Amino acid sequence: RIVASSVPGEIGSRIYDEDIQKYRTQSGPEVFSHKRGNKLVYSMLVPIHNEKPCQRCHGSDHKIRGVLDVEVSTMKTASRIRTLRIRTTIFSVLTLLALGFALTIATSLLVTKPVESMIKTMKKVQDGDLSVRVDEQRGDEIGRLAISFNSMVEELQRAHEEIRRCHIEEMQRVERMATLGELAAAIAHEIKNPLAGISGAIQVIAEELKEDDSKKEIVTDILSEIERLDKTVRDLLTFAKPVSPKMIPVDISSVIERSINLIRLKAEKQNVKVHFRPSEVIIRADPEQLTQVFLNIMINAIHSMPEGGELRAELHKDADQLVVKISDTGFGIPPDRIKDVFKPFYTTKHTGTGLGLSISKNIVEAHGGTLDVESQLGVGTTFIVKMPLTKET
Ligand SMILES: Nc1ncnc2c1ncn2[C@@H]1O[C@H](COP(=O)(O)OP(=O)(O)OP(=O)(O)O)[C@@H](O)[C@H]1O
Ligand SMILES: [Mg+2]
Repeated sequence: RIVASSVPGEIGSRIYDEDIQKYRTQSGPEVFSHKRGNKLVYSMLVPIHNEKPCQRCHGSDHKIRGVLDVEVSTMKTASRIRTLRIRTTIFSVLTLLALGFALTIATSLLVTKPVESMIKTMKKVQDGDLSVRVDEQRGDEIGRLAISFNSMVEELQRAHEEIRRCHIEEMQRVERMATLGELAAAIAHEIKNPLAGISGAIQVIAEELKEDDSKKEIVTDILSEIERLDKTVRDLLTFAKPVSPKMIPVDISSVIERSINLIRLKAEKQNVKVHFRPSEVIIRADPEQLTQVFLNIMINAIHSMPEGGELRAELHKDADQLVVKISDTGFGIPPDRIKDVFKPFYTTKHTGTGLGLSISKNIVEAHGGTLDVESQLGVGTTFIVKMPLTKET
């Protein structure tokens, strides 16, 4: 029976059977756990030996006088552990949430915001606003990216300004040229007929003069001046009102030969040797207009060799192009003037109108080709005509 207990009401009742059972089976005092109702309980049973001093009151009949049964319930500890676990879980979740929030804000401030602002700026640039720039203050990769981006936009803006300026200049030039061309054409038209009349009249006078007449030379001079004026008038009209080419299959060699024949006399007079090895290349072109191109280039070449020299014409096929090169051994063109030679009215000659090359360039371009020049001062000049070869050629 229980004689003393910390649990009120237990005194006088019997010790639990399971405790007695455990006590009997155990070899010494040990802690064991078991269920008491639905509670987990840790117990330890320690025998109270009947020691000598005890025997004075209790006699020596029994070796053991009783059992000390210590029981500790785990309920309180378990509930504290549970509370702690819940607290730890809540704390962990809150910490994780706070960390996630902080990370999101940091990413937004450090990466997302600047990148978004850069994308917005790029969009503006794409839409044509080249005055925008992104913030370059940061010292990291994004900062470096911003610097590169800004310098790229700056370059773009500079190039854009340059193109705009060139475009305006070009438009003004074209406008000027159009007005000039119209004016030139009107004047040329007015001059053409009276000039033809004067030329006819002078020719009649020239025929009436005897060969040994002193006035014969003057009349011949007048005629050659009229011829020059007539060429100028024709050039002005061709320049102001270019005629579209009448394309037919032509052997380009025969066109070059025809042009050479027209300048041969002039070349011989000036001690210029002409070289050309013909080879048949048929292209679709206007033979009259191409003759004018080669003639203009060859006359210029002869003008550049007052002391004589060599005039060479070559032609070859290059992929789908026909290439004609006309070169001279004349005085050449100064490098700073080379860009001007195709400009209308650019001339370095007393008697020139400066229209020969611009007319030639217009004609070649109307044929879908290009006209270029290479020159070395004191060595010579080469004009390069490139024109597309038609499929059937
Ligand atoms: N082969 C060349 N060698 C050196 N300079 C040349 C040559 N061809 C052209 N030039 C230069 O280019 C200028 C322009 O030539 P372009 O044929 O357009 O006009 P031009 O010969 O002066 O006059 P024109 O209208 O009578 O032909 C020439 O005045 C000359 O300064
Ligand atoms: Mg010329």
